[in-house]
Amino acid sequence: MELIISQSIKTLNDYCAELLSKCIKEKNEAKIGLATGNTPIGIYQSLVSLFQSGEVDFTNVRTYNLDEYLGLPKSHPSSFYSFMRRHLIDHVNLKEEHINIPHGKIASPEQECIRYNHILAQAGKLDVQILGIGLNGHIGFNEPSASLSPHTHIVKLTEETRRVNSPAFSSLDEVPTHAITMGVASILRSKSILFMALGKEKSKIMKQALEGPVTTQCPASLLQLHPNCTVFIDEKAASELDVKNNIYDVQYI
Ligand code: GLP
Repeated sequence: MELIISQSIKTLNDYCAELLSKCIKEKNEAKIGLATGNTPIGIYQSLVSLFQSGEVDFTNVRTYNLDEYLGLPKSHPSSFYSFMRRHLIDHVNLKEEHINIPHGKIASPEQECIRYNHILAQAGKLDVQILGIGLNGHIGFNEPSASLSPHTHIVKLTEETRRVNSPAFSSLDEVPTHAITMGVASILRSKSILFMALGKEKSKIMKQALEGPVTTQCPASLLQLHPNCTVFIDEKAASELDVKNNIYDVQYI
């Protein structure tokens, strides 16, 4: 697995944005899987800068988000749709019809899972999937569990996840109890994965995810099975990794 380490988060963000921009230039209709959370915000900022300087054009780009809170309308400030608008969509020339995010406020969540699965199936393999990691090892909203669902499904959020994500809401009670998430098979289907982790608080879970056993109790550990997953990590999040281990191809930037 390729491990790209830097002490500068800005350097990592710019590097990732350059990779995405290269992919967008090379493919006629690049398909990019997007993630939310604090981790990828800097990548989106760098991408917006590349767009503003004319270096990348989103006209033909298709995007596919990992997840959405169940029960939140698009317009809710804490919905992942609003997050994407704030950090990327409102600042670039992505076409509305090319943006795919599960709907959180719908009469039938089960139907929404079928609809989103259909969209992913039609898209085929994404070119790049951006991923962060939850403190408990979740990817998208695939929470640790005795088994994992491969395709888009409804998930009950753990109390830890609700607590960790509560700063984006006005109170813990407001954090939805459920979400719609892409399943692990859909995530692993991507041609390449840009997996990013930042900060000391992610160091323990990154050790488990990258060097521990592959287990549904740490969904991110399944990324060890992907043939083209590159980890972008700052020195703090990498502090517990055995970087000399030959499972890694390490590059310092
Ligand atoms: C969220 C998202 C994940 C994200 C994770 C970590 O709830 N569903 O896609 O990777 O939590 O977020 P952060 O980057 O803020 O640590």
